[in-house]
Amino acid sequence: MIYSERIRLRRNERLDIPKFVEWLNDPEVCRYLSVTLPVSLANEEQWFENMLKRPTDEQPYGIEIRNIGTEGGGHPWRLIGNCSFMDLNWTVRSAEVGLFIGDKSCWNKGYGTEVMRLLLRLGFETLNLNRIFLRVDEANKGGIRAYEKAGFILEGRFRQGVYQKGEYRDLLHMSILRSEWKLETQEKR
Ligand SMILES: CC(C)(COP(=O)(O)OP(=O)(O)OC[C@H]1O[C@@H](n2cnc3c(N)ncnc32)[C@H](O)[C@@H]1OP(=O)(O)O)[C@@H](O)C(=O)NCCC(=O)NCCS
Repeated sequence: MIYSERIRLRRNERLDIPKFVEWLNDPEVCRYLSVTLPVSLANEEQWFENMLKRPTDEQPYGIEIRNIGTEGGGHPWRLIGNCSFMDLNWTVRSAEVGLFIGDKSCWNKGYGTEVMRLLLRLGFETLNLNRIFLRVDEANKGGIRAYEKAGFILEGRFRQGVYQKGEYRDLLHMSILRSEWKLETQEKR
């Protein structure tokens, strides 16, 4: 498990699959994701089996927060979304990150920023990466703000890189280098 103040990241389990099916069929959750068609339990089970064959560095993490009021029993942690590193390149020492919070009651409470900060710590301090980047729909203002708060800067714009519901939008590329992250974390200490 990897912990920060309010969240922890853990490996996905088969038990998580029904939650993913629920979330990935929610149009609001998928509004800025590349998931455009309905997702079945069988699709997600297949995704899970394929995921287990990927290198451990590239296997996703479930995002959990503390469950309130479980002193008398019940699981102390609750799954709210998923995140992962993708396309690790060990020559350039770079990777892409992605995340989604499927539990909409958890949006705009700082969890996305906290997850991203935790992924940056994991990526730079544990995996020894030098560059971490992401791609985000220009209309995803909450996402862009969360990534900026975590230290990402805009590095490029793929014009009309997104097509959804009959319209094109730009796909923003954002990144952070290890030197920038180090500076930012040192300044906060
Ligand atoms: C995008 C996502 C990860 C962000 O996580 P989050 O926990 O909601 O983000 P945070 O609370 O850390 O930060 C969001 C910030 O954006 C701001 N924000 C939200 N909507 C906004 C809008 N329409 N315009 C401007 N700012 C906005 C919030 O106020 C907050 O900023 P603040 O802390 O300065 O007030 C999450 O909403 C999510 O998973 N959405 C669905 C899937 C998705 O889009 N994934 C990302 C694909 S790149």
